[in-house]
Amino acid sequence: MSSQSENIRRITVPQIAARKGGDPIVSLTSYHAHTAAIVDKYADFILVGDSLGMVMHGMENTTGVPLDLMIMHGKAVMRGTKRALVVVDMPFGTYEESPNVAFRNAARIMKETGCGAVKLEGGERMAETVHFLTQRGIPVMAHTGLTPQSSHVMGGFKTQGRDEDSWPAHEADARAVAEAGAFAIVLEGMVEPLAARITKQVEIPTIGIGASVECDGQILVLEDMLGMNPWTPKFVKVYGTLGPMIEKAVSDYAEEVKSRSFPGEDHVYR
Ligand code: KIV
Repeated sequence: MSSQSENIRRITVPQIAARKGGDPIVSLTSYHAHTAAIVDKYADFILVGDSLGMVMHGMENTTGVPLDLMIMHGKAVMRGTKRALVVVDMPFGTYEESPNVAFRNAARIMKETGCGAVKLEGGERMAETVHFLTQRGIPVMAHTGLTPQSSHVMGGFKTQGRDEDSWPAHEADARAVAEAGAFAIVLEGMVEPLAARITKQVEIPTIGIGASVECDGQILVLEDMLGMNPWTPKFVKVYGTLGPMIEKAVSDYAEEVKSRSFPGEDHVYR
């Protein structure tokens, strides 16, 4: 006998790949079961991004995020969702060393969380690993352009492609991971004409974050678009004001406690 929830089928990797040039792909990050349940109704895929290190854990960048933390948040998002494809980021240091190391860690992520795919950063230099993983049953979403795990090498979080001379290298990166078997590619922080050129050159969907409307889909960090992140990047449109709402709720509560009017009559056991 099957329950109602068993009848809801998750969006699959081939379904996302087939959206190239079609209906725009909607995606958001999520790290938390209950917010993921809301996002699940609207997003085609949910990314458990390693941005959680900065957004949830107050780290300065993503290089300190451990694998176990990604797995813990990946499990929470899987518990909260039933429809969207869930993709979990491979954190810094868990895949760059060799395809074998990448396979071991990616397999752990997939087995322990039940997610449908992993994401890793890098272009040409990661193509061999993307091929190795996909040949062994691990769907890979690639991520090029501004790659936050390399922010120390890049000298910070800088928009890519301002200099036209850099375009061929970015285009080669995207083509390399697409040809290696990635099913989609995140283009982060890049100028619009470069994103447009890459989107035309690869046969897989491009997912933009700060990379213009020229991509096949878009992703935002949930906390950024909800107005909860004090250092929200300039390109992010803020759709909600949860930060100020939380602040108001906390200050109202503090006021009631201090004035001994907490809790209100309706909330007292007698
Ligand atoms: O970690 C993350 O949230 C990401 C998105 C910015 C695409 O990789």
